Amino acid sequence: MSGVNDIRSTFLDYFKANGHEVVSSSPLVPQNDPTLMFTNAGMVQFKNVFTGLEQRPYKTAATAQKCVRAGGKHNDLDNVGYTARHHTFFEMLGNFSFGDYFKERAIELAWNLITKEFGLAKDRLCVTVYHTDDEAFGLWKKIAGLADEKIIRIPTSDNFWAMGDTGPCGPCSEIFYDHGAHIWGGPPGSPEEDGDRFIEIWNLVFMQYEQITKEERVNLPRPSIDTGMGLERIAAVLQGQHDNYDIDLFRALIEASVELTGVKAEGERRASHRVIADHLRSAAFLISDGVLPSNEGRGYVLRRIMRRAMRHAELLGAREPVIYKLLPVLVQQMGRAYPELARAEALISETLKLEETRFRKTLERGLSLLSEATADLSKGDSLDGETAFKLYDTYGFPLDLTQDALRNRGIGVDLTGFNDAMQRQKAEARAHWAGSGDKATEAVWFELKEKFGATEFLGYSSESAEAEVQAIVKDGAVVDSASKGDTVQVVVNQTPFYGESGGQVGDTGLIAGDNVKLAVSETQKKGEGLFVHTATITEGSLRAGDAVVMTVDHVRRSRLRANHSATHLIHEALREILGTHVAQKGSLVAPERLRFDVSHPKPMSAEELKVVEAMANEIVTQNTPVTTRLMSVDDAIAEGAMALFGEKYGDEVRVVSMGTAIHGPKAGKPYSVELCGGTHVSATGEIGLVRILSESAVGAGVRRIEAVTGEAARAYLSEQDERVKQVATALKVQPAEVVTRVEQLVEERRKLERELAEAKRKLAMGGGGQAAADEGAREVGGVKFLGRVLKGVEAKDLKGLVDESKAGLGSGVVTLIAVSEDGKASVVVGVTDDLTGRYSAVELVRLASAAVGGKGGGGRADMAQAGGPDGEKADAAIAAVEKALAA
Ligand code: ALA
Repeated sequence: MSGVNDIRSTFLDYFKANGHEVVSSSPLVPQNDPTLMFTNAGMVQFKNVFTGLEQRPYKTAATAQKCVRAGGKHNDLDNVGYTARHHTFFEMLGNFSFGDYFKERAIELAWNLITKEFGLAKDRLCVTVYHTDDEAFGLWKKIAGLADEKIIRIPTSDNFWAMGDTGPCGPCSEIFYDHGAHIWGGPPGSPEEDGDRFIEIWNLVFMQYEQITKEERVNLPRPSIDTGMGLERIAAVLQGQHDNYDIDLFRALIEASVELTGVKAEGERRASHRVIADHLRSAAFLISDGVLPSNEGRGYVLRRIMRRAMRHAELLGAREPVIYKLLPVLVQQMGRAYPELARAEALISETLKLEETRFRKTLERGLSLLSEATADLSKGDSLDGETAFKLYDTYGFPLDLTQDALRNRGIGVDLTGFNDAMQRQKAEARAHWAGSGDKATEAVWFELKEKFGATEFLGYSSESAEAEVQAIVKDGAVVDSASKGDTVQVVVNQTPFYGESGGQVGDTGLIAGDNVKLAVSETQKKGEGLFVHTATITEGSLRAGDAVVMTVDHVRRSRLRANHSATHLIHEALREILGTHVAQKGSLVAPERLRFDVSHPKPMSAEELKVVEAMANEIVTQNTPVTTRLMSVDDAIAEGAMALFGEKYGDEVRVVSMGTAIHGPKAGKPYSVELCGGTHVSATGEIGLVRILSESAVGAGVRRIEAVTGEAARAYLSEQDERVKQVATALKVQPAEVVTRVEQLVEERRKLERELAEAKRKLAMGGGGQAAADEGAREVGGVKFLGRVLKGVEAKDLKGLVDESKAGLGSGVVTLIAVSEDGKASVVVGVTDDLTGRYSAVELVRLASAAVGGKGGGGRADMAQAGGPDGEKADAAIAAVEKALAA
């Protein structure tokens, strides 16, 4: 008997030996299909390879694919726990041919594997073919040597496989295993086929068509093969079990839950253990693929699965969160085959525990309301819709949880009543916001949100995804289509584009469909949950309902990621260096740079900035993974996450941690832990380099830091370096000597300036000095008068010159006028002390000033100054003073 892990590897090794490429499972959230909720078959990741849109370097492949069938076309949620073979999560083993081999080889490969490698007895096997597929019938006969009655023609859709309403499809042939006469049931196509004796173990799909729309079906470029074998089913057969839940993997999980709850997996309680084991698997794998519980879309399916499991834990008497305690067993069983499970163990554990803790608060009260409301009901009755809605709305009971809780009493739920209550509540909510101020202008977004639900954001884990256009808005109104040249706002069901928030600008990129191309210039969040892409149609036309591929500008997004993560590192470094009063006051994360405002009362010193930069770079060099977890706000803060005051957080928050602290009390612990919805690098090394450019004031007590990272930081530094080199060349020194040389030059220049001013003065004063003053003077009205218009002398030097001239004259009056380059006159008049009784410098300067068009002047009797705009009349000003002396 082989364990699940051996069976999986035997399968993959077998196909590898037969020339197939072994390809890893794709994530549970399909990134290449907007119509699918979850990956529900092995072929999903190859959808575009079948249709010829995508090329791969191999023509045959084999996978073990994680699948979830809950929500959407293939939905098994309601049956899980009560049957031997339903699962929300299962693994599908499959081999694929993309236009390589077709029916014959597919049948041959399958038959050899199950009869030779797995050793199943031929007489236990029978197969079905699509009723018109004579070719397959003949091949089974030839290859397997099966008798005619063991090759059963089936005319129904059971033997025509389709991924969903659209996509690749084709007739199929299924292999059945007969579990033996002791179990009731008949072969496929017989009246007893619904019994449990004959179990389908492998489905071989002969992919021939593509369903384009409900009505239109076309041929695939080349006939291909897609097969799917449920690993849990084949394991049951190979382990001699009839029931999937009795295989080694489930036994390990169920034994752990029996041990934990102390309740045996028997009788009524058997289903609860099974539900827990199954739901633990789907929840854990969904979380490890980036789905987190929420009230919309995929997140809500996950929440429904988790809560359904929790109610069953409650039935087993659990009064504390227990499901997360089973996770280590699952990781032990499946972590080797799916390393992502082991990697995400902490996140899964926390997410499970948080959901259990939260739901516990209302679960018990909800259950007692439910039992009161149904006390008088009996088999065949229905619970009223109003109560079911109250349980949903107030107690967080997903509808299927309520249905599940009433299932074994045979009581249903009035779905019409439930939907009416839901509609009524929506109408009230609409009336509420439609009337409230500025929100009314945004009405179109709220209407779209209500109609389509929130946009699912896929951009944490991917930069490209297929999506379905839900609405096109042009000039504020919803339109059916738009064409080349139009700038519109596009709403899709899922998007990898980040909507501007938390300081990080929105993504730009491309949207492309069969007949259309758009350039997205902006992405914003509107109407509480919609992502709105502003885009210009560059080719063709766009219609609501179109399937499109959304591709984020990768380079720009990488820069945004690096800048956002660097903001966290700078924030933490600032707190460490300046103190914990430092709080974020705003930030801008743009592709080319980051800006970060913090509360701090004074300018930061160059030294402080240098240390902050060095600390941030220390964490960059660590190159440790950046982790993201979902937690309750309280837990996050207890873990030391930096929350922003005044910010509105939901019940659950994303907590982004990066780096390991090297210094201080946090040494060895996570370096930066912040609540953040932004996109981040996956390891700090991707930031490359952090370079702070500036620090400035933006308001009282708020400082702003601007910085660049990665390529922008490198470009900045290389530009600086280039500049230093140019300066060095100009100075004719080595770059290392630039500073000393510049200091020298500055000093020399200062000296030269001083000498030059002195020389100019001397020149202006006619050779300079006190003697010159005396020589230039003449007798006017009995006193010596020196009057000069000076060129090239600055106004500020006039007083000094007047003093000197006064000293040169010994006794007399001096009037010096400097005319600036723009033609303005500055006048200084000096009167030696012995003459101040006769002449006042103030009065004299006023006369001079009037001559050059100035108004007044001022000073003391021995020295006064004035100015005027008409420098060309400087001689007249001298003459005016002279005249006054002569009078
Ligand atoms: N795609 C096929 C299935 O899911 C093999 O059954």
